[in-house]
Amino acid sequence: MYLTHLTCTACAGQYDWRDLQNVCPACQKPLFPTYDVVEIGRALTRDALSTRCENSLWRYRELLPLPAKIEPVTLGEGSTPLLRLTRFGRGLSEVWVKDESLNPTQSFKARGMSVAVSMAKFLGATKLAVPSAGNAGGALAAYAARAGLEAHIFMPRDTPRANIIECRELGARVELIDGLITDCGVEIAKRKLAEGWFDMSTLKEPYRVEGKKTLGYELAEQMKWQLPDVILYPTGGGTGLIGMWKAFAEMEELGWISEMRPRMFSVQASGCAPIVRAFEAGEAHANEFGRAHTVASGLRVPKAIGDFIMLKILRDSGGGAVAIDDAEMIRTVREVGSAEGLFIAPEGAACFAALTTLAAAGKIGPKERVVIFNTGSGIKYLECFGAGAP
Ligand SMILES: Cc1ncc(COP(=O)(O)O)c(C=O)c1O
Ligand SMILES: [Zn+2]
Repeated sequence: MYLTHLTCTACAGQYDWRDLQNVCPACQKPLFPTYDVVEIGRALTRDALSTRCENSLWRYRELLPLPAKIEPVTLGEGSTPLLRLTRFGRGLSEVWVKDESLNPTQSFKARGMSVAVSMAKFLGATKLAVPSAGNAGGALAAYAARAGLEAHIFMPRDTPRANIIECRELGARVELIDGLITDCGVEIAKRKLAEGWFDMSTLKEPYRVEGKKTLGYELAEQMKWQLPDVILYPTGGGTGLIGMWKAFAEMEELGWISEMRPRMFSVQASGCAPIVRAFEAGEAHANEFGRAHTVASGLRVPKAIGDFIMLKILRDSGGGAVAIDDAEMIRTVREVGSAEGLFIAPEGAACFAALTTLAAAGKIGPKERVVIFNTGSGIKYLECFGAGAP
């Protein structure tokens, strides 16, 4: 294993990875795993990677935590298709979708949980707790079951039913809270010490971001190490966006890619757009978004601990932030479904709608290479489409 220590994303304090950690003890901000990249470069080359048969995200084992002799907790996550659009996005010559709905539990949350549950188990945690907008809960329930650990999942009462049912059928203890994901997080923080729970909140433990960073490695490998010009990503907690950016930095250090970076666009819902607001106001942090509401439950995150990291990425990359309203997302699900054969999640649909908006505004050029992330499956959101919807 090439993990050397944990580094604070705000104060640069360094910590021992052998201790089960949440946030930085000094400043309460997220901790990032740090690796001996020079040694990784000696052990693994791009060419060697291309000959590997392992299809799960553990094909990037050298770039992930977990001692080499320890078996990861895996359900075959990762290696999702990168599909070129055929009809949607007319007028744009090269748009791709990375379809994350093919992961175990049908969302990209599987990536983070495979790595984080592997490390939590290795470091001795037995009871895992998470506040979830829906998909993270399902993923934790699956990986905790696979690992033989307890999962305690706190979700807003109006989380899509499929997510709630899924968690229960995967053996998790589910508590429904009258409130938002932030209220679920507060409940866990209040009780975790007495209950012996390890808090698996995104970016409040160091390893979910490592699983999500494999989105960046996989994309680079699938695109033959030429990153796209633009990435559109549906942003709640922001871990996917942050993870990819971390992967790009590591790959540049390894000499696998050039210094060119895609322009990163964060796509949010009009009813919950703290990052869009802060980006437009030129702020370094985002204020809590009042009365947050959207059918895209994964985007209903009024306050994210990694807000300052996201905002810096959007600005450093020359990208931006876009808000899409719910009616447009739902319309776009059917448009993409009938044009491309993909039943996408509303969060993914927000990115497709944002593509149209950004292209019309001249912020994406007709010849640019664009990648959209569809982070989940429409099948989990049947309420949105209504019984007998037109
Ligand atoms: C389908 C879907 N897309 C996007 C997100 C937002 O993810 P992130 O925390 O990486 O911003 C979520 C989070 O719950 C989700 O479930
Ligand atoms: Zn710190």
